[in-house]
Amino acid sequence: MATTASIGYGPTVLVAIEQRFLESARIINDDLAARILPFKTRVSTRLWLLLLPRDRMVALSEKRAPGVWGSILCRKRHIDDRLAEAVDSQVETMVNLGCGIDTRTYRLPALAKLPVFEVDLPENIDAKRSRLKKVLGGVPAHVTLVPIDFDREDLGAVLASHGYAGDTRTFFIWEGVTQYLTEEGVRATFAFLASAHAGSRLAFTYIRKDFMDGEAFYGHEYIYKKLVLKEKNWRFGMDPESVADFLSGYGWRVLEHLGFDELAERYVKPTGRKLLSMPIERMVYAEKL
Ligand SMILES: C[S@@+](CC[C@H](N)C(=O)[O-])C[C@H]1O[C@@H](n2cnc3c(N)ncnc32)[C@H](O)[C@@H]1O
Repeated sequence: MATTASIGYGPTVLVAIEQRFLESARIINDDLAARILPFKTRVSTRLWLLLLPRDRMVALSEKRAPGVWGSILCRKRHIDDRLAEAVDSQVETMVNLGCGIDTRTYRLPALAKLPVFEVDLPENIDAKRSRLKKVLGGVPAHVTLVPIDFDREDLGAVLASHGYAGDTRTFFIWEGVTQYLTEEGVRATFAFLASAHAGSRLAFTYIRKDFMDGEAFYGHEYIYKKLVLKEKNWRFGMDPESVADFLSGYGWRVLEHLGFDELAERYVKPTGRKLLSMPIERMVYAEKL
């Protein structure tokens, strides 16, 4: 069984393999992804790539976890795009909640001077710090790595103790994380977000509640059996119909609420590639009122 911390490497492994495509066929460009992977993951990714050509890796992923390839890459690309726009126009700080070993903080020029807080379980924060030391010579001065367990600790207090004052318009990312938390952990995070500065932004993903409850599988029985029933890593889902009301209870207004097919139209179609759909995960972009 994958530990919750090692799950933080999965999306970056996909991004690293994606770099084997020609630039014109890539959904996302990321020359740091392969280098930031922790040693064992880096070695196993290289071995897999020796055994299987890139296209067969994608085909294998599509067979075992249909749609996951495209959904992870599209959500990364979409958040990158929204973040770059928001930094251009208004946000002054970035907080990546459950950052894993995502690289955008270190590769997006828009973030080069912004105060950034990267937040995750202690094990992932340690792994990231150690890889940043090897790859970039250390954690850049404008970045603070923050260890926390969202289900057990007070996010506001932990961020404050690491220097986040909460008095600036902030871009919060919560990418591929909510499903791993308890409902209490999700609500506690939203309770913190309720105090965010007006004009802040939030980009987050969630898994459909009917899927989590075993009421509708959308062709993804394998993922349900593995992640919900067997490993019990996925715990929380939301009903798309009630997302806007849920957020408004915490002072946030939904600006965009997208499914994979809409994201694929923007980011997969121009590459000419065909990737399976992932109807169980959705992407929300919201503004603090
Ligand atoms: C699927 S990974 C996504 C990582 C990153 N956001 C990305 O998309 O590349 C889920 C992340 O959530 C983090 N996470 C899960 N439960 C957590 C918790 N209770 N407290 C803090 N982080 C948690 C994991 O450690 C992991 O890095």
